[in-house]
Amino acid sequence: MKITFAESAKADIIAFLVDEDGDLPEAAAALNETTGGLLSEAMDGSRFSGKKDQQAFIVLPKGSDARRAVLIGAGKKDKRDARVLEGLGANLYKSHSSSGFKSLAVHAGSAEDAARIALGAKLASYRFDTYFTKLKDDQKPSLESVTLVVSDVPAAEAAFVPLNAGAEGTKLARDLVNMPPNDLYPASFAEKCRELGQYGVQVEVLGEAELAKLGMNSMLGVGQGSVKESQLGVMKWMGGAEGEDPVILIGKGVCFDTGGISLKPGPGMEDMKWDMGGAGAVAGAMLALVGRKAKANVVGVVGLVENMPDGKAQRPGDVVTSMSGQTIEVLNTDAEGRLVLADALHWTQEEFQPARIIDFATLTGAMIIALGNEFAGVFSNDDKLAEDLHDAGEITGDRNWRMPIDRAYDKLINSPIADMKNIGPRYAGSITAAQFIKRFVDEGVKWAHLDIAGMVWSDKPGATWDKGATGYGVRLLDRFVTDRFER
Ligand code: BES
Ligand code: MN
Ligand code: ZN
Repeated sequence: MKITFAESAKADIIAFLVDEDGDLPEAAAALNETTGGLLSEAMDGSRFSGKKDQQAFIVLPKGSDARRAVLIGAGKKDKRDARVLEGLGANLYKSHSSSGFKSLAVHAGSAEDAARIALGAKLASYRFDTYFTKLKDDQKPSLESVTLVVSDVPAAEAAFVPLNAGAEGTKLARDLVNMPPNDLYPASFAEKCRELGQYGVQVEVLGEAELAKLGMNSMLGVGQGSVKESQLGVMKWMGGAEGEDPVILIGKGVCFDTGGISLKPGPGMEDMKWDMGGAGAVAGAMLALVGRKAKANVVGVVGLVENMPDGKAQRPGDVVTSMSGQTIEVLNTDAEGRLVLADALHWTQEEFQPARIIDFATLTGAMIIALGNEFAGVFSNDDKLAEDLHDAGEITGDRNWRMPIDRAYDKLINSPIADMKNIGPRYAGSITAAQFIKRFVDEGVKWAHLDIAGMVWSDKPGATWDKGATGYGVRLLDRFVTDRFER
């Protein structure tokens, strides 16, 4: 689907935003006039008052510039923030994408508003249909273009550049999460990271031999039951000042999580193809950053493994020595994400001087019990960092809520035979998981862990996504970097 900005546009469908209890905007009023009041009539006939997302649909007379007119309620003016505008763009796209019409023009208001509406439409236009071989034409969207009608076209185009980069990053994250696990495994994920090289990201991939040499036994233990080779992907975008410490993004990339020998129950196990959603968000964020040439130094690290049961698989009871030197009693092979993150975190701190570390992981089912599918849980040793992430989440819609970490929880993962065990007691499972990760964060490093188990996948369509992968985290990270690390 193509997005353009223009001062005027001829399109099959022409849409106007109407304030709640407000008058028709100028262009719509003019159309109302020339059509003998068709727009007012449609509003009266459909209880249209301009409430957010209401629509009134008008069949225009033959010979009109457009075939249909649409009025969309834009809600109260003072409540019209970025998220509302994106929602309107998404709603317009979804409502008319399969209408049979090919082009939609939206009279958008300011340049900034137009860019936001365009972003919503673009996010909503995402489809993952590469595996269908028999789609009929009427099962594919008919809408080919959305044009935002604005007076200052260059300003709208300029405002759209960074938003578009965020949308492209979101698309990459969604593609990775949606891909079936026979096609997306550690090496093929690493290949997708390498492809970011063409845009200027420096990419490096470490394989099992190198990881073993480095002593990353905690991460390697998770992948040892799989025929797929574990990989550590590193993506660097050094768009900021030379020598400035980078923001580090770390993603859990368990390309499939069977639970290992602590095997998960069969029903629903297919969900565990999206256990790489943290790594997907990191890869997507890197694409967003390079796409808008962010003036910041950012390094993305993804720990890519497959957790399988096998004769070679790790056993419950095994003790592994992590790269940090700390030993871990692996009591449950299904608590594998933290084992991957532990080594990825340590390696990163050896390699770089992090300004901040933010890790993303579909770490615990308990996180979904606590917060459902509305907020990710944030665990952080730094109040300001947690606050910044929260703010970035409210703007982008990638919402997150802070959870506690505390010495009292940390005690719960002490092991009788090693430095720690990889599970705690039944309760507070998301917190003990965060405490585990924290044990691999060096003193003085500002760190946040986002447990995104409830956010990566959606069983129902949302504001700007369909069922399936949401792309959670990409725009959050992009926004965080914009607001806190760029001038
Ligand atoms: N990947 C899962 C967590 C998960 C579950 C994510 C459901 C999304 C949806 C993780 O590796 C896991 O299995 N965690 C266990 C931890 C437990 C064994 C301590 C869990 O949450 O049950
Ligand atoms: Mn697991
Ligand atoms: Zn997992």
